[in-house]
This record gives sequence, structure tokens and C-alpha cells, in this order.
Amino acid sequence: MSEAVVTEHAEPILRLRGVGRRFGGLHAVRDVDLDVAHGERRAILGPNGAGKTTLFNVISGDFPATSGSIHFLGQDVTGVAARHRAKLGMGRTYQKTRLFHGLSVEDNLYLAVLGVKQGHLRPVVVPKQDEELRGRARELIASVHLGGRESTLVGNLSHGEQRQLEIGMARASDPKLMMLDEPASGLSRGERVALTDLLLGLDPSITLILIEHDMDVALRVAQRVTMMHDGRVIVEGTPDEIRANQTVHDLYLGRGHQADG
Ligand SMILES: Nc1ncnc2c1ncn2[C@@H]1O[C@H](COP(=O)(O)OP(=O)(O)OP(=O)(O)O)[C@@H](O)[C@H]1O
Ligand SMILES: [Mg+2]
Repeated sequence: MSEAVVTEHAEPILRLRGVGRRFGGLHAVRDVDLDVAHGERRAILGPNGAGKTTLFNVISGDFPATSGSIHFLGQDVTGVAARHRAKLGMGRTYQKTRLFHGLSVEDNLYLAVLGVKQGHLRPVVVPKQDEELRGRARELIASVHLGGRESTLVGNLSHGEQRQLEIGMARASDPKLMMLDEPASGLSRGERVALTDLLLGLDPSITLILIEHDMDVALRVAQRVTMMHDGRVIVEGTPDEIRANQTVHDLYLGRGHQADG
């Protein structure tokens, strides 16, 4: 192996040091150190209220950290606005879906590639057509295994198909780091298998962080697993180490977990 290959990605793509987030007196996330390597698949596990979604929010900048530092691609982004972090290459999905249910699959993705913000904004008309961007939208549809569903209204998709579409939406900005918040929540067994296959087939150059309570999905997709409890990281290891860890069993597996919390 040449030295260039060894040193190319010596720095992690994402580095958190002493990161915390308070909401009034509540420490939703506290003192988190985290290094994620380029191209890594990382799962974040933990019981309801552990701080997993808040951790995503501080990384993406939706709710900035109240302490500590965040470096992305070697750059200190701790004080950088969410939209600029997105431009630098962060993409994410949300625990509750943010799709336009009254529009078709293709129009949702078309708006995403146009950079129309998801969420509360509800476009009355789909903006002027651009064939190149339409083509990109159709590529993304195929990449999340929704070929043939282009003109289906999102409200008529199954729950699993909506989750697939959200991953396509997160890919629209060509992120270097993708953060998926419970992509398998509420899915049937068959849909979870399809989603796992989709995640395993994603471009290996995209770094993936996945919050997932479904151990089958998390441990099949991830190379490393971070377990949170009470705002802190309490265990980190390979899927095999996590399976064998007594703390994980005591705190998580024995206690169950409510999806869509
Ligand atoms: N915007 C907010 N304002 C106040 N408190 C918040 C806010 N967001 C999260 N919290 C609190 O922070 C703690 C961690 O919540 P978070 O949503 O990060 O947990 P989680 O691990 O994602 O849980 P779940 O598995 O249920 O999704 C909880 O006590 C929650 O009530
Ligand atoms: Mg959550």
C-alpha cells in the first residue's frame, strides 16, 4: 500500500470533542467524543430519550451544541449554520417523515434536487421544468429502488417506500456524510430486509451514520456501533463486541424500545 493511500484519510470525516446540548436544565447530550472515518458505516443505538436525535441535531446544526467542538472534513463547523453544513456535504433524514404527500415521487425528488427545503414549506406549484434535474431525480428514484413509482402520489406509497424516498431526498444534495434517523421504524419485516439491502448497496464513498433501534438492521449495516444512554456515549465497538456486551443487554435489549418516540 502506498503512503498516499495510508495518509489520504488519516483524519476522520467527523470529529466531536466534549459535545453537549442543554435544553434549559436538561442535558440531552453530554460530553460526547466521536470519531467517524471516511466511508464508515456507524450505527447509534440507545433507549428512548438517550439523546440520539439530539446528537444528529448538533452535528447537522439544527440545534447547535451548547458545549464542545465539531469538525467536519477537517474544518471546525461548531458555529456554522445548518444550511452551510449541508453545503459542505452533510445530509440527513428526520425521525418523522417530511415528504410532500400530495405530490408524486418524482416531484418530491425534483424539488429536492432543486434545493427546495423540505418540511413546513408547501409548494403550490412545482417550479419550472429543467430536464437535466428531472433526469437526476429519476436516477435517484432508481437508486432507492422506486423505479416504476415515479408518478405515484407519496401519500399512496407504503411506509417502507416512503422511507426509501427519504433516503433518495437526503442523497439529492450529493452528501459526503448521510445521517439517517430510524429509517426502519414502523416497517414490516419484509420492508426492513429491503431497506437493509438498499443501505448495504449505497455508494461506499458516502459515510453513513444510522440511528436504529432494530438490531438486525443496525448490526448488519454498521461496521462500528456507538451506544448512548442518558445523553452520554457508554459503549463503542464492532457489531460482535456490541452483541456480547452485558451493558448493552441490560440497558437496551432487555428493556425494549418504542419506535417513533
Ligand atoms: N427541542 C427540545 N427541547 C427540549 N427538550 C428536548 C428537545 N429535543 C429533545 N429534548 C429532550 O432531550 C432528551 C433526548 O431526546 P432525543 O430526542 O435526542 O432522544 P432519542 O435518543 O432520539 O430518543 P428516541 O429513541 O425516543 O427517538 C429527551 O429528554 C428529550 O425530551
Ligand atoms: Mg430520536
